[in-house]
Amino acid sequence: MIFDFDMIQSVYARYPERIAKAREIVGKPLTLSEKILFTHLWEGNLSQQYERGNSYVDFAPDRVAMQDATAQMALLQFMQAGKAKVAVPSTAHADHLIQARVGAEADLQESINKNSEVFNFLSSVCDKYGIGFWKPGAGIIHQVVLENYAFPGGMMIGTDSHTVNAGGLGMVAVGVGGADAVDVMAGMAWELKMPKLIGVKLTGRLNGWTSAKDIILKVAGILTVKGGTGCIIEYFGEGAESLSATGKGTICNMGAEVGATTSTFGYDDSMRRYLAATGRQAIVDAADKVAEHLTGDAEVYANPELYFDQVIEINLDELTPHLNGPFTPDLATPVSEFRAKAEANGWPLDVEWALIGSCTNSSYEDLSRAASIVEDAVAKGVKPKAILGINPGSEQVKYTAERDGFLDSFRKFESARIFTNACGPCIGQWDREGAEKGEKNSIIHSFNRNFAKRADGNPNTHAFVASPEMVAAIAISGRLDFNPITDTLTNQNGEQIRLGEPNGFELPAKGFDVADNGYQAPSEDGSQVRVDVNPTSDRLQLLTPFEPWDGRNITGAKLLIKAFGKCTTDHISMAGPWLKYRGHLDNISNNMLIGAINAYNMETNSVKNGLNGEYDEVPNVARAYKAAGIPTIVVGDQNYGEGSSREHAAMEPRHLGVRAVLVKSFARIHETNLKKQGMLALTFDNVDDYDKIFEDDTINFLDLDQFAPGRPVQLEFQHADGTKDIILANHTYNAQQIGWFRAGSALNLIAEEAKN
Ligand code: F3S
Repeated sequence: MIFDFDMIQSVYARYPERIAKAREIVGKPLTLSEKILFTHLWEGNLSQQYERGNSYVDFAPDRVAMQDATAQMALLQFMQAGKAKVAVPSTAHADHLIQARVGAEADLQESINKNSEVFNFLSSVCDKYGIGFWKPGAGIIHQVVLENYAFPGGMMIGTDSHTVNAGGLGMVAVGVGGADAVDVMAGMAWELKMPKLIGVKLTGRLNGWTSAKDIILKVAGILTVKGGTGCIIEYFGEGAESLSATGKGTICNMGAEVGATTSTFGYDDSMRRYLAATGRQAIVDAADKVAEHLTGDAEVYANPELYFDQVIEINLDELTPHLNGPFTPDLATPVSEFRAKAEANGWPLDVEWALIGSCTNSSYEDLSRAASIVEDAVAKGVKPKAILGINPGSEQVKYTAERDGFLDSFRKFESARIFTNACGPCIGQWDREGAEKGEKNSIIHSFNRNFAKRADGNPNTHAFVASPEMVAAIAISGRLDFNPITDTLTNQNGEQIRLGEPNGFELPAKGFDVADNGYQAPSEDGSQVRVDVNPTSDRLQLLTPFEPWDGRNITGAKLLIKAFGKCTTDHISMAGPWLKYRGHLDNISNNMLIGAINAYNMETNSVKNGLNGEYDEVPNVARAYKAAGIPTIVVGDQNYGEGSSREHAAMEPRHLGVRAVLVKSFARIHETNLKKQGMLALTFDNVDDYDKIFEDDTINFLDLDQFAPGRPVQLEFQHADGTKDIILANHTYNAQQIGWFRAGSALNLIAEEAKN
């Protein structure tokens, strides 16, 4: 059994009592989202009314999932925690590093050759610490999670924004940064701002060409890319119950595109069917015993406006297929209006490539419905125009679809390419011939994101998002403005034909099958397992613990940079080509703050080196100070560190000798990440003091030796002209966080505690 049934049973065992207590305290009927949140409070800590959108709350997730790109630093950090095993069931999935080029077999081998050191590291570190490892080719993280681990009423976190896909099986599943995953794997609480709740009532039933994807494409049009920020979207109504579990997964998956914390659905028959078909009847039997708690209360769904912060209603009887894009997933256009809009905007209408796959739409049902369109076209003598690329979601899906003939249906498209069960073009891992020419063109895909350059690196590729069925139809016609409901195609005999409506199978009639699912179970006792990291690797580097604080004032520090204006985690630790160094702290530190604007010369990546008076790149100057044993501080503006929760943005400064970051205000996640890495995250008591800091200043802390919760600290800035300013700085460290600072990092403290 791959899934941890004991854990699931223990979650269900606590449901009745915790829900009863929650009802008492909240004093009103409960949504499903609240039920899951309240049953997963850290140490069952339901002692107060939490304020949605305001209160920070500690939770105890049931699972952790990591993909290969983000898992590297997360697991390198976990190794520092001094634990023999992870505290909660966890998995890592090799899916992001696999490039699509010519087809599954050759591409997979090439990716394994190219990334073997990363895959070997992940394999050995997972083996050692009790983490399940899904090898390259096993599948896309979120499909594999849905097929094997997701369970109704559970809570999980994952180091990927589309972790939310598991809402299709009734979970609260949230995408997080590596630091959060490390905390939970090390046995600590996970903090989340209590989400607001958006209810989406689905009436009617999908029909004809419309699919689950069109529901979320419509929702994206309504909410826009920011409309779900800080919210859980909860779907309910007869329309919700009529959807398959993987269709629900598609909808939850793209909740990330409206910024939602996550999305979820109540436990129903579609989930029972899917769990049973994927070998988890035991979960159905256990869930059925607490089924009333695994969905929202009837009163909530009867009067949703009383219990949700916002309610949206969609009638599936009236919904039509949508195409969203280009360049943003919320630009939603019903297929009937597409031609006029495309012409008005000058979007290229010819389509060279059509892609089906990604964690969003790569299920058995998706492939079977898209295959039915291809079969129909071939039977009617239509020759497809575009190239069709397929990435099945998992080896289980691929094996079963192969057995049932759907992949052969696609192969009837002479140009079809079946790629590896991996992310591929969805994350830009696509060696598309000719993309480097930068020509204006359109592609259609069933993925979730369509930002410029995401799929093929060409900024002029107009990517449109649609259901797999619509992608297949558009691939056949070769035209973006093809509306299969009203338009005809000319076949080889010159006849006008109309494509039949898609039909497919929610689940395989003969059951799922797979020869080798690509799963590597961890060793029972991993103590003897050696973790493979080549000391000369430029992609991976074992971490060494950061130095603890000596309890004294930091003195003689130099200013590394005073950042002007916006300084996001991207400015602090740029993505793009640097991502390949995610597992090598020293190498990736060469991107530290290279995007930040130096307030003294308004240039990026050019700061004064006080040791020789010359201007140089930020990482070089930081390394020079570090080599000379001189501590540094970084000064910043408002909302410093906004953006992604990337832990590298805190680890890199720490690694290069920055001791404190003093800003007008912080983005909260970055502030917490700095604390976890053993740095001082400080804010100006008076924001105008930002102007009192000069390039050549020497900085002394005056009372850090009395560091305590709620007690501001004083910093003395000695200016080059002999004058000085004393500045008051605030902080939000509690006693535990001061412990992290003393120990050198949160992980150092955990490791110390593990020893005792
Ligand atoms: Fe992979 Fe794309 Fe999903 S990168 S995890 S398939 S969003």
